[in-house]
Parts: sequence; C-alpha cells; structure tokens
Amino acid sequence: MYTKVLGTGSYVPQKVVTNADLEKLVDTNDEWIQSRTGIKERRMSENENTSELAYQAALKALEAAQVKPDEIDLLIVATVTSDKPFPGVSQILQRRLGFDTITAFDINAACSGFIYALNIADKMIRSGAYKKALIIGAEILTKITDYTDRNTCVLFGDAAGAMVIGESEKPMIKDVLTYAKGDVEGFLTMDGYPLKKNFKTEQQDRPFLKMQGSDVFKFATTVLPKVVRTLLERSNLDIKDLSYIVAHQANKRIIDKASRTLKFPISKMYMNIEKYGNTSAASVPLAIDEAIRGNILKPGDIFITAAFGAGLTWGGALIEL
Ligand code: ACO
Repeated sequence: MYTKVLGTGSYVPQKVVTNADLEKLVDTNDEWIQSRTGIKERRMSENENTSELAYQAALKALEAAQVKPDEIDLLIVATVTSDKPFPGVSQILQRRLGFDTITAFDINAACSGFIYALNIADKMIRSGAYKKALIIGAEILTKITDYTDRNTCVLFGDAAGAMVIGESEKPMIKDVLTYAKGDVEGFLTMDGYPLKKNFKTEQQDRPFLKMQGSDVFKFATTVLPKVVRTLLERSNLDIKDLSYIVAHQANKRIIDKASRTLKFPISKMYMNIEKYGNTSAASVPLAIDEAIRGNILKPGDIFITAAFGAGLTWGGALIEL
C-alpha cells in the first residue's frame, strides 16, 4: 500500500503589509528587508482566525481532489497558532467541513509541521487503517509577532495550505523524513503558561515569538541540503531527476545557499517568499499549491519539499505528482 497526492489548495488573507508599512513601526527599511530576506510584502489577517484560513484552503484542496467530505477519514492540522489551546483547529474543521466523526487532531512542529503531518498521514494510510487524509498547515503568525522587534516582525505572515492524500498502487509519495533536536539553547522559542505558585492566579503578559536569527540561519542552511541528499540517496535518485525543490520560505538567502551547496539551479528552487514572507507550517503547502496551480509542477514531475523551524525540527518529502 502506497500513497499519492490527490489535490491541493491554499488561502491567504486579503490585507497586504508592505515593507514600507513596517518602516512606520520599527527602525527598518525596504532595502534591508529585501536584501537580507527577499521579502517584499506579507499578508495579515484582520478578522479571520486560523481555522477560517484553514477552512478556505481545505475547500480548495477537496475540490481539486474531487473528494467528497464523507470519503475523508483522517484530518491533521499543523499549527502553532490555533484559535484556542482547545478545541483544536482540526476538530473545529471536522464539523465545519461536514466530515464524519473521524480521527482529527492538531500537531505542533512549527515551520516543519506540514512535513510532520504528511509523514503521519502517509504512514497511517500505508498501514491500511485509513484511506484518505486531509492535511493542513495554517498559521496566523502575526498573532504572536512583536511589532516592536525589528529582528522578527519583518519576517512573518499569515496563510494556510492544504493537501488531500490517498491510497495508491504506485509509491507516488515516495519517502517522508522528519527529525527533531530539542532547542535547549533557545534559538527560536515562545513562552507559554508559567507554573503556578500555591494556587495563585497572576495575570501574565502576552508572550511573543523570540528568535536568534543567525543561529537559526546556520541550522537551516545545514539541515536543508542534508535532508535533500538523504531523500535522494534513500530512493537511489540523482538531483537531476528533480523538477523542483520546494523549500520552506523563511529567507531567500537560505534557499540561495541550499541551491549553491546542492549545485541545483536556483531557477528550480521554487520561491514565493517575496509575496508572503515566512508563513510557518503554511509555507510549504502554500508553495506546492501555487506551483501546481501555476503549472510549474506538473503530473509526472518528481520534486522534494523540505522544511525546518522551531523545535528545532526539520524534514522533507520526495513526491511524484
Ligand atoms: N531592519 C534593519 N536592520 C535590522 C533588521 C531590520 N528589520 N533586523 C535586524 N537588523 C540589524 C541587526 O540589528 C544587526 O545590526 P547590528 O549589526 O548593528 O547589530 C544587523 O541588522 C544584522 O543582523 P543579523 O541578525 O546578523 O542579520 P542577518 O543577516 O542574520 O539576518 C535574519 C537576520 C533575516 C533574521 C536571518 O538571520 C534569518 O533569516 N534567520 C533565519 C530565520 C528562519 O529561518 N526562521 C525559520 C524558522 S521560523 C519558525 O519556525 C516560526
């Protein structure tokens, strides 16, 4: 039993935040942001929560896959910005999408969340226990971004991407790998609820994402080429067999460096970071959906998608469409 991609979808909020908009908030400028990150603009949700972005992306993926709601028996949402700690976005969507009382859960693997969801769904279908899965990466990172911190606030945006995968006689989703190495150094973290002292209930300031950018940069430029090489080796493929690499859109310079390290043409490293910035778990499925709808990724193409992020987590998948 193998798996294949049946359809993809994505959704971004209407509001565009340009680099010029951020110049009004912090000591930054368009030239710095574009040259250091490749980002020109990003989207910001005004009144749609993560489950709404995920819902819109899911509808498009289900339509592209031509799958009816009662055929889906597994729903996984990767997010670090769920509407509430519980219920999860997946459980909210199970009702909204009219699914049966199927298995539905959220996972947290930050920017690598979609690859983790794909790995879990792939293995659950391959086991024979499930037939068709809807997997989603959805984030509103602007909820947890500190707009007084120029080191982070220029980087992030809001989006959702979805994919339906199902059983296949041929191995089309050929391999999925996921890894983690606990970030005890605190390269990329966000505080949560503190332990309580003797039943006291103190008010807590709202926590925000914190990042040591250059450490994350070094980590990303190490693991990204490594996971691509491992996937190729495990499938006995050469990098020339790939139509594209669709990497997590965190920084254009990370993708440029991976292209040089792998000696893979930059023209085949899919990029949409200039429009959306870093959308965490949504980044990879949004990019894959855009590439498919833009006829850049076509049936028969073999590509690798890979991501890295907080946790620290990373992973990748080798897929034939
Ligand atoms: N505008 C102007 N100057 C800035 C800005 C800004 N927005 N941000 C930082 N600077 C300044 C810094 O203060 C520093 O100034 P100094 O030399 O006077 O101290 C200078 O620019 C250089 O700062 P660096 O942090 O060294 O800049 P760098 O080239 O490393 O770029 C960046 C920073 C873009 C954050 C980069 O390190 C990066 O992309 N890191 C990886 C981030 C990432 O991949 N995250 C993925 C996971 S996200 C997730 O999982 C949620």
